[in-house]
Amino acid sequence: MDRHEMRTKAENLMAKLTLEEKIGMVHGAHLFSTQGVERLGIPPLIMSDGPMGVRQEFEPDHWKAIDRSDDYVTYLPCNSALAATWNRDLAFAMGSVLGEEARGRGKDVILAPGINIKRSPLCGRNFEYFSEDPYLTGELAVPFIQGVQQWDVAACVKHFAANNQETQRLWVNVEIDEKALREIYLPAFYECLTRGNSLSVMGAYNKLYGEHCCQSQYLLHDILRQEWGYEGVVISDWGGVHDTEFAAMSELDIEMSVTDDFDHYFMADPLKKAVEQGKIPESKVNEKVIRILMLMMQLHMLEGGEGSRRRGTYNLPEHRYAALETARESVVLLKNDTGYLPLCEERIKKLLLIGENAERIHSKGGGSAEIKALYEISPLMGIKRLLGGNARVDFVKGYESDAQEKSEDINWQEKSLEEGGGHGREEQKEDQSAAARRAALRREAVEAAKNYDTVIFVGGLNHDYDSEGLDRRDMKLPYEQDRLIRELLAVCPELVVILIGGSSVEMGEWIQDAHTVLWSYYAGMEGGTALAETLFGKVNPSGKLPETFYKNHMDCSAHALGEFAGEEQVAYKEGIFVGYRYNETFGVEPEFCFGHGVSYSRFVYEDAVYEEADGCGYVICRLTNTGKYPGGETVQVYRIKEQEKAPEEWQQKEAHLSELRPLKELAGFGKIYLEPGETGQIKISVKTRQERVRLGVGSSVKDIRLWV
Ligand code: BGC
Repeated sequence: MDRHEMRTKAENLMAKLTLEEKIGMVHGAHLFSTQGVERLGIPPLIMSDGPMGVRQEFEPDHWKAIDRSDDYVTYLPCNSALAATWNRDLAFAMGSVLGEEARGRGKDVILAPGINIKRSPLCGRNFEYFSEDPYLTGELAVPFIQGVQQWDVAACVKHFAANNQETQRLWVNVEIDEKALREIYLPAFYECLTRGNSLSVMGAYNKLYGEHCCQSQYLLHDILRQEWGYEGVVISDWGGVHDTEFAAMSELDIEMSVTDDFDHYFMADPLKKAVEQGKIPESKVNEKVIRILMLMMQLHMLEGGEGSRRRGTYNLPEHRYAALETARESVVLLKNDTGYLPLCEERIKKLLLIGENAERIHSKGGGSAEIKALYEISPLMGIKRLLGGNARVDFVKGYESDAQEKSEDINWQEKSLEEGGGHGREEQKEDQSAAARRAALRREAVEAAKNYDTVIFVGGLNHDYDSEGLDRRDMKLPYEQDRLIRELLAVCPELVVILIGGSSVEMGEWIQDAHTVLWSYYAGMEGGTALAETLFGKVNPSGKLPETFYKNHMDCSAHALGEFAGEEQVAYKEGIFVGYRYNETFGVEPEFCFGHGVSYSRFVYEDAVYEEADGCGYVICRLTNTGKYPGGETVQVYRIKEQEKAPEEWQQKEAHLSELRPLKELAGFGKIYLEPGETGQIKISVKTRQERVRLGVGSSVKDIRLWV
């Protein structure tokens, strides 16, 4: 059925509905679903979070988990981990698992993927997002969406748009120049909604140019519908609507919220009344209903529609294997200066693991992205499983997180409209007994470390920090981990440091002395397996940072030039200079740059050429794996502007920013796998601009090997 036919069918069906029935379809009738119209065979639209798996079941009208045994699911690596693979096929595979499981659990819309730009490392939801780079985000989010939707489930790409902080997320007004909006914050949405054909999109909580995004004329009407011609369904974030008239007259289709007074939602009884009183034309409601019906047709949800709907299922072994494959490619080896890794499993008789993250389970946290995982392999279990019974693996905590107060009766989401929807982390009060406990744990760990040849520290962040509704204060490792790592390095210079988190952390206090450092994003149910396999060389690390790892948050442009996190207003004064675009152009050295990641092998780059065919540009180049291990390498192509690095004073004079272009911008990438000694050719499609720039081909934004 073509779009025209589909629309005619939807119009005919819509014409049979009463106003009340139509109103039931455009707002949440329960926490995660709308109202169906049984007499005409229109089912409710059933939604679920996203993005690392299908969320647990809640009672329809209460934020109370049903808590049965049938809603455990595959826990996938978070979007940042997926981005670290730089692998489009894995993005498709992850989307496909999510789609199949969502359908298997009876869902129609999965509230994923999250594709907001990582503007600052301090944003609490960064782990749900891919990258600081719009091109990388779009390139991975598009196959992810295609993977989801092949299962007759709609993806709901979120949060549209400029939703880059949690502090006051319901009220903060983003002030940004249009160039930055269009070059940095909108392109991935454009790709997902056009090329990716995401059947739905979620509006953001925040305001943009003074309008709430979920009811914005500019974003939803002018850009989304008019300019992009988007015909899919726009769903509000939960509690993102603030006014009946604005919402109804905007291009929003469905209002969702967190409270249980469903009939009082702005697009419920108040909308019905407004239409009856002639304040809002019924045609506005009709348009929304038509779009919802068209979405249902595409998902084969309507009786008498074309084709049968895919059934889906969940917790297949293949799903766990796909999660493992992604986890394997997501581990980023930041440093292996002395070649200490990989470890040799036969030689290890005794190994010490230190740090709470070695055994912490992360799936349950983070906010709406929480997962009731079928299981989660911790690094401790991953290593023990790999080494087996002949090696002794000991564990000491070394540090511990603060005990969280948990109330069984109150779900954070129910309260999430309070406090503007989110806040910054409060300064930690120094608690004497906690400090004493930490000192004791540290002493115990340092003493223990002296007795082992192989010592591995596993620390970083957790979802008390990487969390919806909360921004970090700074990039420091919590729980005095810096001190612990320093003291461990003093007695154990070959210490392997593994950090787990959703966004970069400061490492300055010890990074010079640490030779071996690994980074893992929250890598899903098989994260511990992937880490262990990497440590012992069963996997050659091929992850690359999808974001800049700053030395300090003040080296990030959102903080250095712009504002973060604003309360009522937040000015994105840094414009297009987000992430490496700023650091490269202004000569600000990061700790680890965008695209960085070490392998156990070495890859030699040769003979890069640029070709054009059918109006598309390609960079072709040869790579040889000169190392001992088979491995993958992500080849990155950057547009490199021939300009002097901007002098420091440019930073002060914002006016000039608008005249500058970033020194480097990612234009293409591809991944190649080579056996030891093997040479292969890679062909990378590149996104070029009209103006002639040079293209740099390399292993990271800083490590440019060839020019074309
Ligand atoms: C989040 C959304 C999520 C929704 C439903 C909101 O708090 O911002 O990303 O999909 O809740 O749980």
